[in-house]
Amino acid sequence: MSRARTALVVGAGAMGRRWADVVARRDDLVLAAWVDTTRDVVEAAAADLSATGNLQAGDVLVEDDLERALDAVSPDLVVDVTVPEAHLPVTLACLERRIPVLGEKPMTTTVDEARRLVEASERTGTLFAVSQSRRYNAELFALRRLVEEHLGHPEIVSCWFYRAPHFGGFRDAMPSPLLLDMAIHAFDVARWLVGSDPVAVYCDEHNPSWSWYRGAASATAVFEMSGGERFSYAGSWCAPGEETSWEGLWRVTSGAGTASWDGGSSPTAEVVTGTGTTRRTGEVDRSVPQGIEGALDEFVAALDGGPAPMGECHENLKSLAMTLAAVESAATRRRIAVRWT
Ligand SMILES: NC(=O)c1ccc[n+]([C@@H]2O[C@H](COP(=O)([O-])OP(=O)(O)OC[C@H]3O[C@@H](n4cnc5c(N)ncnc54)[C@H](O)[C@@H]3O)[C@@H](O)[C@H]2O)c1
Repeated sequence: MSRARTALVVGAGAMGRRWADVVARRDDLVLAAWVDTTRDVVEAAAADLSATGNLQAGDVLVEDDLERALDAVSPDLVVDVTVPEAHLPVTLACLERRIPVLGEKPMTTTVDEARRLVEASERTGTLFAVSQSRRYNAELFALRRLVEEHLGHPEIVSCWFYRAPHFGGFRDAMPSPLLLDMAIHAFDVARWLVGSDPVAVYCDEHNPSWSWYRGAASATAVFEMSGGERFSYAGSWCAPGEETSWEGLWRVTSGAGTASWDGGSSPTAEVVTGTGTTRRTGEVDRSVPQGIEGALDEFVAALDGGPAPMGECHENLKSLAMTLAAVESAATRRRIAVRWT
């Protein structure tokens, strides 16, 4: 496509501001409209973005009504950065108009809602992908390559995630804040590392006595995957001291050895053979685009005829299904089958 595409961003909260900035900085995209149901919020966000010089004041249509904005600018693509409860109506409205959507995680709040979006994407032949931004990480790519090249198929994968953020706001009050808001990133990465689909999960959740969250902020989950692999996750959002990175601390084991990654530095591996142990360090390709920039790069490339993004809705639905099955398992204290069809 030779002309720049027009983009509409929906949601002007903390994350919507980051998305609008990333869109506005690209030469191949024009931020044509920005929508938030709270007009003051989107007006203030647009003024702040203009002040950075990445947006000319008045160039972007600021709206509090999505349909009106879609009528006005007929965008080539939409980025849905609203709260999870609004992902279904916002994304559905765009897909029905055959406008490709890149949405924030989680795709929706239930698997049934997510299936409606997948069905709309299929029926209208319109690309819908979810930006699972922690997939786009140069060291993580290096870990996956290290495993592929030196270890082969892993059957034991684990992730530790222990941090103690004081967010304030919705996370402090929501149920299952760790599982619903954060663990989906690790579940999604595990699926990618193992290369199999989730089958079932047993999960235990609890809220430590000192927790500043209303919902359970700690969880331990064991997933069975379709190749018989096991992925174990242990995490907490109220674990002060010796914190892990935001990506978590990973171990990936096959019959040939183990790779590990602290989520920040280069991954390493010990390859064990009959004659000894060889230590390897993963080669990090610094050209890999990071975070939401990477997700947007891949989405635009797909619109240009490139491969489907990693978060294409049929794939990302499985990560949402893992999360919701873990929540159900914790609530019922039973092993739950992970279903997305
Ligand atoms: N990938 C990441 O690392 C990451 C980090 C933070 C947030 N997120 C995700 O981004 C999304 C937004 O998070 P946030 O922190 O910006 O939330 P936020 O509450 O700060 O902002 C959300 C905005 O959406 C607006 N909104 C709600 N319903 C709307 C609708 N129907 N139409 C238009 N606007 C609507 C609200 O008015 C609010 O301004 C969530 O899905 C969240 O999980 C992802």
